[in-house]
Parts: sequence; structure tokens; C-alpha cells
Amino acid sequence: MNFDKDYTKYWSSAVKKSIDGTKIAGLNEANHFFKEINAKKDSCILDLGCSFGRMSKVLLNYSRNIFGVDPDQYAVSEASKLEYLDVKQGTAEDIPFEESFFNIVFCWAVMDVVNHVEALKEINRVLKLDSKFLITGKNINYFSDDDLAFRAEKNAYLKNFPSRYTNLDKVIKNISKFGFKITNLFIFSRRGDMGNLKYSTFQNNLNSSLNFYEYILIGKKISNLNDLELKEDYLSSPISFTARSMANDSGFKNTDSFFKSIGLN
Ligand SMILES: C[S@@+](CC[C@H](N)C(=O)[O-])C[C@H]1O[C@@H](n2cnc3c(N)ncnc32)[C@H](O)[C@@H]1O
Repeated sequence: MNFDKDYTKYWSSAVKKSIDGTKIAGLNEANHFFKEINAKKDSCILDLGCSFGRMSKVLLNYSRNIFGVDPDQYAVSEASKLEYLDVKQGTAEDIPFEESFFNIVFCWAVMDVVNHVEALKEINRVLKLDSKFLITGKNINYFSDDDLAFRAEKNAYLKNFPSRYTNLDKVIKNISKFGFKITNLFIFSRRGDMGNLKYSTFQNNLNSSLNFYEYILIGKKISNLNDLELKEDYLSSPISFTARSMANDSGFKNTDSFFKSIGLN
């Protein structure tokens, strides 16, 4: 699957009505959490993975200095019609802006498809010291009875849609290696909870065995990185722990045969 015009068109209709009836977190929810960042009027904000620019309305509540990055050229051209100062083609792993350019990096519904190690390194590079990022993502360990979460994972896999489940426990334990400290952590237990603003708030005291589906993490840059040689993405995985253990418990050798035995539904 490519992130191209077809995907961007799919996403612009998916945000209006989700396939499984859950409410997709939108502008209201993003605004609710963005407030925690304490943006200033002249903050330079990057909408990383901006697609057609859905989130520009939220960011414009805080600053006129907003910028976008997306790999899809069609998304870039659509977002460029909005009030971004600049929208560039690029990725989270290779952000086309110079170092220390931004006061805030906002990355909503994008970590699910990026190499976490490379993205965190790049976010550190483009952020000024003492500046913040906000990322959302899916956790590697959701509840085994969260049927909607499981169905979403299985169907995405069967449709060849790339996924990355964050090992949030590892991210928290390793965040200082990426030059950040965590300032806020919001946990959404089940699929659909983010759209309904149903969450718990944590500091750094996340229990590694805790099950939950999604998270929002706000971090502050506390140091620059000097050539951190970590190419492999040890912070996320294309398959959740939950699906792996369900496959195992059902007697399947791997999640591929497990998912295929159920099929799309
Ligand atoms: C689910 S959409 C979210 C778009 C937007 N942030 C929003 O909330 O409306 C995911 C976006 O990530 C983009 N994307 C895919 N791979 C990416 C990468 N490696 N780096 C940055 N963005 C990427 C896609 O093109 C797509 O626009």
C-alpha cells in the first residue's frame, strides 16, 4: 500500500464516517489535548503527516505559523490551498526542515505507519530546545476482548495496510535517549475511546503490563542528539502482542495464518 492520492482520498472520507462505527478522533479531540502544550502566538508548528490539512483548523487556533509535511504529493497540493505557511513533501523519518526550526511538532494518527526510532530522532532534530511534540499512536498491548481493535488490526493486515503498534512502555523507558522528557501521557483503554474523550492521565508511572488501545504522548526536548546509531525500530512492531498471543492461544504458528483463517469481516 502506498501513501498516495487514493489513500488521501480514502482518509478524507474515512474521517467523516468510520468503517466500524467508532467515532474517529477529530478537531475537537485534537484541540482538547493540544491545549496542554501551552503554545505561544508566534510558535512555529509542524503538522507532521498533515494529509489534506484536516488539523490546520486546530493549529490555527494557536498560531499563524503553521507548516505541513506529508509523503503524498496530492496531499501536499491539497494542504497547500489552506493557511499553512509552507507544506513540503517528506516523511517523519526525513523531515525536510532545518534543525531547531520548530517550537512544536504535532503528529496525529501518523505514528501507526512510521519507524518510531527514526521519527523520534528527526523530531528531536527539528525541534528547538525546551520545545514540545505531541504524538498519538496505538499501543502494542490492547485488551484481548477489544473486538473492534482486533478486527481493525486483522483487516488492516489482510488489506496490506501498514501498521505499527507502539511499545509505549519501551518508549517511556528510552525517551531520554532521544533527548526528551515526557510531560503528559493520556491513555485510551479501548478502540473508540479517543473519539469520545474517555481517557486516563499518567505521569511516568505506566505499568508495563497495562492494556490499552491508544495513547497521546507529549514530550519536551531537553537535549540535542549526537549521531544516535539506532536504525532498527525497537520501539514498535507491525503486529500487536495481543494478536500474537491470541494466535498462539488458538494453536496457530503465526498471526498470518491466524488472520487468514478468520478472513476479512
Ligand atoms: C491517518 S492519516 C492522518 C493525517 C492527519 N494527521 C490527520 O489527522 O488528518 C496518516 C497520514 O500519514 C501520512 N504518512 C504516511 N507515511 C508517513 C511517513 N513516513 N511520515 C509522515 N507521514 C506519513 C499519510 O500520507 C497520511 O497523510
